Amino acid sequence: MKLGLIGAGGMAATLLEALAAHLPRPLDHLAVLVRDRAKGEALLAAHGAVATVTSVHTELAALLHAGAGMVAECASHAAVREHGAAILEAGRDLVVASTGALADDALMEALRGAAGCGGAQILLPAGAMGGIDALAAARLRGSPRVTYVGRKPPAAWRGTRAETLLELEGLTQAATFYEGSARAAARDFPQNANVAATIALAGMGFEATRVRLVADPAITRNLHELEVESDAVNFTIRLEGVPSPANPKTSLTAGLSMARAVLNRDAVLVV
Ligand SMILES: NC(=O)c1ccc[n+]([C@@H]2O[C@H](COP(=O)([O-])OP(=O)(O)OC[C@H]3O[C@@H](n4cnc5c(N)ncnc54)[C@H](O)[C@@H]3O)[C@@H](O)[C@H]2O)c1
Repeated sequence: MKLGLIGAGGMAATLLEALAAHLPRPLDHLAVLVRDRAKGEALLAAHGAVATVTSVHTELAALLHAGAGMVAECASHAAVREHGAAILEAGRDLVVASTGALADDALMEALRGAAGCGGAQILLPAGAMGGIDALAAARLRGSPRVTYVGRKPPAAWRGTRAETLLELEGLTQAATFYEGSARAAARDFPQNANVAATIALAGMGFEATRVRLVADPAITRNLHELEVESDAVNFTIRLEGVPSPANPKTSLTAGLSMARAVLNRDAVLVV
């Protein structure tokens, strides 16, 4: 298998560690696209043993030329905007981590069009969230009512719009400072955009998916909660992600779930 990877941060490292541990044999080629070549080289110095051949690129054309059949984006919303359509038009499947970029309808349409032209797929792993499988299944039978609750300690909301809506200092009990659509949440609180977008795309879309954002002084880690009521299933799921060592803003499960998408590509048993 030839794999393209965009980004060389915390999630890329988690993904490669998991592949090294679980691939039945090394990748034939791992091609990494970065803005800063040194970062790509550092990633490969630590994790390059996962592939027989490795290469670092700063241009998408070179990454595509390396022959990757699947490209895993572990970079940023900007990377999805810059490279997504060209990857799909070239017939390469694209696994997207920065799903919040897809809250932009025009970009989503462009990617769908490009995938159609190239005969490629856009794959959205569950990322930091869980229950995406049950939600997507429930969506096949009616219109589930879907609420995502993003709950973080007050300090984790510093530097966001929450500061203008709430007195974060000295908060003694949990306070909801946003309640509305996933679309507006993705726009106004991009830190939560990926999880909200994955839930919206698996279920009821950006307008009908409700989002509540809460500052809670009683917790120390970020919590993701998903409540679904539907004709097929009712459930509430609550995840407390362990932060990735390389980037504490990203849950380990996000990179591991990217790894599952890559492992499934070559697996006989696909879960
Ligand atoms: N789907 C989810 O549940 C979920 C969860 C956590 C994080 N994420 C997203 O995954 C992405 C990666 O997370 P991370 O923790 O590795 O971040 P990070 O900041 O540790 O690493 C990102 C890397 O990508 C590189 N990069 C950014 N834009 C690029 C571009 N246009 N071209 C090439 N390289 C580029 C950066 O230089 C950096 O090396 C982020 O967008 C993050 O928001 C998604």
